[in-house]
Amino acid sequence: MSEDINEGPQVTDGTVKTETEEDKINGLPGVGAATAEKLMVTGFDNLMSISVASPGQLVDVAGVTEATARKIIYAARDKLDMGFESGEDLLKKREQIVKLTTGCKAFDEMLAGGFESGSISECFGEFGSSKSQIAHVLAVRVQLSKDQGGADGSVIFLDGESTFRPERIIQIANGLGLNHEEVLKNIKVARAFNSDHQMLLAEKSEDIIKEGINGLPVKLLVMDSLTSHFRADFSGRGELAVRQQKLNRHMHVLMKLANQYNLCVYVTNQVMAKPDMFFGDPTAAIGGNIVGHNSQTRIYLRKGKKGTRVGKLIDSPYLADTEAIFKITENGMEDV
Ligand code: GTP
Ligand code: MG
Repeated sequence: MSEDINEGPQVTDGTVKTETEEDKINGLPGVGAATAEKLMVTGFDNLMSISVASPGQLVDVAGVTEATARKIIYAARDKLDMGFESGEDLLKKREQIVKLTTGCKAFDEMLAGGFESGSISECFGEFGSSKSQIAHVLAVRVQLSKDQGGADGSVIFLDGESTFRPERIIQIANGLGLNHEEVLKNIKVARAFNSDHQMLLAEKSEDIIKEGINGLPVKLLVMDSLTSHFRADFSGRGELAVRQQKLNRHMHVLMKLANQYNLCVYVTNQVMAKPDMFFGDPTAAIGGNIVGHNSQTRIYLRKGKKGTRVGKLIDSPYLADTEAIFKITENGMEDV
């Protein structure tokens, strides 16, 4: 398990840690010992995290001027040589990707194996379409071994709607013959009270990810629901732009976590039950382009006949736009 435990930037930048990250940060122009210290303790403890930071963030945490912050960021980017990766590096990265299975063959096949680590997957659909149930299923199944379709991983569950149900985790774990107490211990849940709090929780999750949970690397981060707080907090007409900006920032944090630590980020997004809204372009309604562009895998969920649910892959760059029918049962998700 140690080879893919969350080790930070190595996953993405391919550097070898001969010089420590602290040395590298100390070596950046404009970074003295005090600034380095501030950066380190606030989580900017590797070149990757600095190079993807905004100047404003560094101003806030390190008390440097904006000009200096820019200089630091550019220097970190230079050092990282980021932006270009060889085809071989990309192939290596692809090979590290884990696919989390759902227990429903049709659904897994639609996803060419399952929910992928290293990127954001989004399920969107009306109330009761199974967005939260899938979150629970994944939170248990990620703890299975790789042979069994899991990732030997632990879970961060960010709960924006009070949807997390330990009883449901127990049911699904028992169905798989897992020790449900262990399974529950490996899920860290935090309730988000508003959109700002939600954004903060996503950022703070990095500390847990770096540590792992009970010795297990975090392989799944759930954000259920991604959008509801943003909708509620910025509901006025004039607030749309601010909302989208914040949502964009939030998603970048999530994307960075997914990419840097090779974990699966699963987000949910509710849409109104207005069927006519989905003729033509079913993705038009949801969180604007911001959410869509930041989710690599998007699945539209709807209620099917006789209590079934239907998932449809949307806008996938490399998978066919297929559908999968499933049902939610005591054990989790199953084929019909
Ligand atoms: P909103 O969050 O309201 O937008 O809905 P959602 O898409 O998250 O739906 P959710 O996943 O909560 O529920 C989907 C369906 O799962 C429900 O309509 C129920 O039929 C079923 N379900 C929910 N809880 C359980 C449970 O504990 N056991 C079983 N067997 N089915 C459940
Ligand atoms: Mg829900």
